[in-house]
Amino acid sequence: MTTTTDHTAAPDFPLRRGCPYAPPDLATEFREDGAPRRVRIWNGSTPWLITRHEQVRQVLSATDRFSADVTNPGFPNTSSAQPQVEGGIFFRKDGDEHLPIRRILNPDFTAKRSEALRPRIAELTGKLIDDLVTMPRPVDLIEHFALALPTVVICDVLGVPYEERHTVHESSKKLVQLNAPHEEKLAAQQALHANLTDHTERKRRDPDESLLSRLVNVHVAGGDLTFDQAVRLGMLVIGAGHETTANMIGLGILALLREPGQRDILLSDPARHAATCVEEMMRYWSMVQTEPRRVAIQDTEIGGVLIRAGEGVICNLPAANRDPAVFAAPEQLDITRVERRHIGFGFGIHQCLGQNLSRVEMRVAWPALFQRIPGLRLSVKEKELRFHDQALTYGLEDLPVTW
Ligand code: HEM
Repeated sequence: MTTTTDHTAAPDFPLRRGCPYAPPDLATEFREDGAPRRVRIWNGSTPWLITRHEQVRQVLSATDRFSADVTNPGFPNTSSAQPQVEGGIFFRKDGDEHLPIRRILNPDFTAKRSEALRPRIAELTGKLIDDLVTMPRPVDLIEHFALALPTVVICDVLGVPYEERHTVHESSKKLVQLNAPHEEKLAAQQALHANLTDHTERKRRDPDESLLSRLVNVHVAGGDLTFDQAVRLGMLVIGAGHETTANMIGLGILALLREPGQRDILLSDPARHAATCVEEMMRYWSMVQTEPRRVAIQDTEIGGVLIRAGEGVICNLPAANRDPAVFAAPEQLDITRVERRHIGFGFGIHQCLGQNLSRVEMRVAWPALFQRIPGLRLSVKEKELRFHDQALTYGLEDLPVTW
């Protein structure tokens, strides 16, 4: 068993991609090699990168050995501010600090609840496409479709009225802009907080079926949450569900533009193929590219390497979801693929809260867009597309199209 590898040789993380449609070459090389390998993050520390599908599942399911708490010593933080900014959030916690809050949120995100939103999601998608087709071309599908849809859908779930979504959309757009100045992001966060405080207060006076209403009228009233915690859970749901789904919608459109054969299969029978298409896109793109992260709290052997308590680990979903030990012809996009053990939504108790909702959004969005605009095509050369490969989520800066 190995206990250390050469720290000085550790490559900088996030790793760079050679090809926009494949995981970073080094991540693939590490996976083929089989053992966890050290990478160097912004603060000079060298956590382990886990790239094999089986090993990622091992780390993410062993909650007694690996902690998600960003305030634990040795956690491979994403910045010096992370422990302060995210330290109090339930999904960066373990055990009793995580599960009770997760249980409060779960009922609004079950497969059944998300599926029940399908007609509404189809209506919202239709409205966005109605607007799109009247816009001067080229149109940026990231801004006008991929980002807009998750915002209006999550506002529906939270109970923010349609006509008042402008602030939420503007603030969340700013919050996910990679190069927006810090002060502008802070201002956007404050605007979102004020906006949701207002809505939560209104739900207290005038209850309905929405998530914000349930949080304030059941859980704040029952003493499980403070009023501000309820508001911040609303903000968290917007933040977590916005950029992720938006990036996936954009990447999925690109994949279907590049591979007309796959698009034809989808459109030949969307009721049959949309669900497998979503799972395959989740596997193929694996757009959460620099997480999940954990810190070992007990010495644990993974892939023949002893990871010591206090050492950080970073799971690499793009490499794990192309692991040939699990997926045949992993580099190929095949929307009829039946092997669905991808871990694009994570694995274990922190597995994505909003996965069912995102699935319904993608199942509706891709067929609707290509059915309404059959001549959809890129308005720039493919090699001019700009991807962000250093951010938490992989995605396109913009997706200029015409028809
Ligand atoms: C395609 C879209 C999405 C992708 C790829 C995605 C991916 C992920 C992944 C990989 C994790 C696990 C993180 C970890 O283990 O450390 C996660 C957790 C989470 N996701 Fe998503 N997500 C998506 C959409 C959403 C949406 C729509 C919501 C809104 C409700 C959401 C809310 C959350 C929350 C709250 C967690 C933390 C859960 C916990 O710790 O119990 N996500 N997501």
